[in-house]
Amino acid sequence: MSGGTGRVGVGVIGAGVISKEYLSNLTSFPDLDVRFVADIDLDRAKAQAEAFGVPGYGTVDELLADDEIEIVVNLTLPKVHVEVALQVLAAGKNVWSEKPFSLDRASGRKLLDVAHEKGLRVATAPDTFLGAGIQSARRLVEQGTIGAPLTALTLMQSPGPESWHPNPDFLFQEGAGPLFDIGPYYLTALVQLFGPVARVSAVASKARESRVIGSGPRAGEEFAVTVPTHVSALYQFENGQTAQSVFSFDSKLGRTQFEVTGSDATLVVPDPNTFQGELLLHGSDGIQTIAATGSTTSRGTGVVELARAIRAGVAERASGEQAYHVVDIMVSTIEAGLSGQPVEVESTVTVAPALPEDWDPRAATIGA
Ligand SMILES: NC(=O)c1ccc[n+]([C@@H]2O[C@H](COP(=O)([O-])OP(=O)(O)OC[C@H]3O[C@@H](n4cnc5c(N)ncnc54)[C@H](O)[C@@H]3O)[C@@H](O)[C@H]2O)c1
Repeated sequence: MSGGTGRVGVGVIGAGVISKEYLSNLTSFPDLDVRFVADIDLDRAKAQAEAFGVPGYGTVDELLADDEIEIVVNLTLPKVHVEVALQVLAAGKNVWSEKPFSLDRASGRKLLDVAHEKGLRVATAPDTFLGAGIQSARRLVEQGTIGAPLTALTLMQSPGPESWHPNPDFLFQEGAGPLFDIGPYYLTALVQLFGPVARVSAVASKARESRVIGSGPRAGEEFAVTVPTHVSALYQFENGQTAQSVFSFDSKLGRTQFEVTGSDATLVVPDPNTFQGELLLHGSDGIQTIAATGSTTSRGTGVVELARAIRAGVAERASGEQAYHVVDIMVSTIEAGLSGQPVEVESTVTVAPALPEDWDPRAATIGA
């Protein structure tokens, strides 16, 4: 590995659907040097490397042999996130992983422990909370705009992604479903606003045992649904707030809602699966529209924040500890849904401070 100065070398593992948005952003950030794309499907790795001007492509082992790569961006499927992340840590490199951090508590804990032992980092998506939308919401709540924060209502309802994703099976199996696939955006935003979750109650159900692929070469193929596709949860936070959340792939009515109510007002926050958007403040004087301010880049923003934190020797915001707490909340939600009993969430997290309003991922802050 390089001696820890200059732009931070990045390698990407997983050249599937989401790699396009990542590579488009990562190759535009002056603080990063994207050097290699790897995939078990070498044609995909080659195509994405060529499309985004990345000099190297090939196997995971070839990527890990590049001493100049300090952060490996893990865009593989949820069921192999931990396995790939452990390979990256074993090679002495830091990890940025797509969500979910892990599928269970034990493997997530192991990942944190190995990273800690090696003095490496395991930062994790979502990084949407670093965008202007949630950062503006945080600033408004912290400035007392809604009074004392009390409750939240979040809704994510859709018919499910099988109509547009060419390989959607994994989105309806262990490690996904609406809770593990989309839940991290909502739960991370709630933790950012209210702090850690202490207790969960939930119900969970499934509309259909199988679904049909709607696009791409496999269109018309049927696959099994093995996880709940509608989850409704009540969260109690350590600081006393509560939230009511629906995560559903069973609704023909597509809808997202994220609102936070305080003693003085209700704040409607942009979709936490996006990086920006307007906020609406419902107060005694009517409704006020507030423009979000802050970074408007998209997926990959957290990799720059991680790179700068590595160079500065400070903690990154999208930390493995936060991601592990979110996994713990999701596992607890499923346990509560299956048992019909409230579940105490074992882990906790100290929420990192909000970003400065003028934080700019496109700025060059690290010397060449
Ligand atoms: N598709 C989206 O809109 C979206 C949005 C946000 C986050 N994500 C997350 O990004 C991740 C990837 O999703 P996707 O939609 O790009 O999936 P995808 O199936 O399109 O791509 C995954 C890629 O990973 C490769 N891969 C799998 N196992 C590997 C391994 N062990 N080593 C090397 N390569 C391996 C596959 O060959 C494939 O090219 C998932 O965790 C998903 O939750 C996806």
